[in-house]
Amino acid sequence: MANLKTSYLGLELKTPLVVSSGPFTNDVESVARLEQAGAAAVVLKSIFEEQIRDDVSGMVAALEGDTSGVAMEYLRADLPGQLGPEAYLDKIVAMRKRVKIPIIASVNCVEASKWVSYAKKIERAGADALELNLYHMPVDPDETAGRVESRRLELVRAVLAEVKLPVSVKLSQHYTTLLPFARMLDAMGVKGLVLFNRFLQTEVDIEKESIYFAPDYSSPKVLHAQLRWTAVLRGWVRCSIAISGGIHTGDELVKALLVGADAGCICSALHLRNDFSVIREILDGLTAWMGRKGYQALADFRGKLRETDLRDGQGFERAQYVKAAGELA
Ligand SMILES: Cc1cc2nc3c(=O)[nH]c(=O)nc-3n(C[C@H](O)[C@H](O)[C@H](O)COP(=O)(O)O)c2cc1C
Repeated sequence: MANLKTSYLGLELKTPLVVSSGPFTNDVESVARLEQAGAAAVVLKSIFEEQIRDDVSGMVAALEGDTSGVAMEYLRADLPGQLGPEAYLDKIVAMRKRVKIPIIASVNCVEASKWVSYAKKIERAGADALELNLYHMPVDPDETAGRVESRRLELVRAVLAEVKLPVSVKLSQHYTTLLPFARMLDAMGVKGLVLFNRFLQTEVDIEKESIYFAPDYSSPKVLHAQLRWTAVLRGWVRCSIAISGGIHTGDELVKALLVGADAGCICSALHLRNDFSVIREILDGLTAWMGRKGYQALADFRGKLRETDLRDGQGFERAQYVKAAGELA
């Protein structure tokens, strides 16, 4: 029997298959069913920085009028920490009681100053780790790539200073220089990188002449970018790497591990099938492949296809491109 154990963010997982943030990780019953179906860990549906802030402004409005000016100022200074949404924390507490698998909380965040003391509450509620979902469209015409990145780094640094929990960062693939950015996060003490966040896809309704956001599930075809970047980053960061995006069968999970990922995450596969038995099927696919190849444990093959020779800065990408072009000629 193959050993599928892995370490992710310093947590021991029974297999490398994690359910990523989404509607199925939003309530206790569903998370219990995911555990039953074989999920090794879950990332909770993200709480958004705006939610934390809105809650706080609601509280401010309620407090206005019957509180002294000085007291108001004092409260306002630490409102995000004191009055963050309790429902999310209650959910973590309830999940912690209900399931044994690691629970990774998730915050979609832009600016540290607005919410970061809330991270401590997440820690106290019993989460095993915290994933920072750096999902943000850079639409400020005056903000350069360097400034965008340094703002993100400041945010992560502030969270790391706040909590002892392992912290991971879910990245977008649209960074100008992903490798040095990932290395800075790693050096800072981040315990894992999740490649990648999947933006809501913009659609245009040509009759209404308006924009809308359609539910957009992935297919295995979107896996390529995750594979390439994991192969590139693996030799350069100490922290864990998880692939999110395009894992639907055991084959994609095998590919993720071969390029050096410590875990693979699924979300769309659950939605498209609407049946949690897909978790077992993916793991069975991995086990069958390992059996065929004579591998006993993930360490026997993990990272076999990672890129390690980056001395010219473009070895992997260019070599593959030249080879492909040669084959097509
Ligand atoms: C309906 C839906 C809701 C999602 N909500 C979140 C979220 O709240 N936070 C987050 O970090 N990712 C969210 N995601 C992204 C998924 O966690 C995942 O990274 C992405 O769908 C790519 O993985 P997949 O190909 O397995 O779907 C959501 C995805 C879907 C389809």
